[in-house]
Amino acid sequence: MSDRRLPFSTHMQRFRYAGPPGRLLAMTTVFVTRAIPGQALSQLAAAGHAIDLWPGELPPPPDALAAHLRAADAALTMVSDRIPPELLPACPKLRVVANMAVGYDNVDPAAAAAAGVWVTNTPGVLADTTADFAFALLLATARQVVASERDTRAGGWKAWSPTAFLGADVYGSTLGVVGMGQIGAAFARRAQGFAMRILYTSRTPKPAVEAETGARWVSLPELLAASDFVSIHTPLTASTRGLISTAELALMRPSAILVNTSRGAVVDQEALVAALRAGTIAGAALDVTEPEPLPLGHPLFMLPNVVVTPHIASAGRATRARMAEIAAANILAVLARKDPPNPVNRPVPPR
Ligand code: GLV
Repeated sequence: MSDRRLPFSTHMQRFRYAGPPGRLLAMTTVFVTRAIPGQALSQLAAAGHAIDLWPGELPPPPDALAAHLRAADAALTMVSDRIPPELLPACPKLRVVANMAVGYDNVDPAAAAAAGVWVTNTPGVLADTTADFAFALLLATARQVVASERDTRAGGWKAWSPTAFLGADVYGSTLGVVGMGQIGAAFARRAQGFAMRILYTSRTPKPAVEAETGARWVSLPELLAASDFVSIHTPLTASTRGLISTAELALMRPSAILVNTSRGAVVDQEALVAALRAGTIAGAALDVTEPEPLPLGHPLFMLPNVVVTPHIASAGRATRARMAEIAAANILAVLARKDPPNPVNRPVPPR
């Protein structure tokens, strides 16, 4: 049987990381920073690339990441792999960093372009899955799904109670969507099914989304003051870092709930803890935190009106497989000396 037709698991065994970087003798090496779902590894292997697969669930520590990147022609990375900009010129063969994510705040696209390295992402494929999860978080927090389930398991369910676990009504309420990209728009579509009035902020108005969902473009202060639920869908950039801080939280309603599935650093977390403690807002649902993982014992874990999940908004089985395959497709294109399908920078010239 030719190599090309070996089953996926055999490729995994063959290319499993087994020592210091640089030991793989194939022409081209793709460093993959975690085991990934779907056909991505077999697609890379079938094209004749050696796969240097980082073992285990945990990200490579910075030293190991640097060593493996220095020996690689391509890297398939996760949002949790921070690529220091100064490392890129020191990776002589590296031609592409393919992030298995739509966000790419873990790598500096301009620094990569200057070093001749493509950076790519996986847009589109995860918008609906992420919006599903953001809506699950909204509902879970509004209707105390997590708190009541925990209490029920602990024996707290003694009788039907007219006053137990009262929550915020979602149907017919006002939703504020911060950032109306693909995920924000998918979220707004879901909100329509709950007859929500939708306000949104974004750099520019989105007439197509307005026509489809009835959403209204407003300023951030207006959105914060008028919304029962505020859901963040903006990428992390210099201008969105700390976007929601003390002043913004103070504008929100005491009954309001904040949902964040974008990046932890878009919210000033200390300000959020203070606002939750003071009753400035009623609750928060966070799939993303700063740092990640959020250390046990963090004040957010002490607050009953907070739901924290481990950055899993895009973790639909088929979606994650597709994300990995899109990342692999970007790598395959660059290694074949073609433009990748999902670039977020443009190296001039590419290596
Ligand atoms: C996940 O956080 C992503 O950016 O895709």
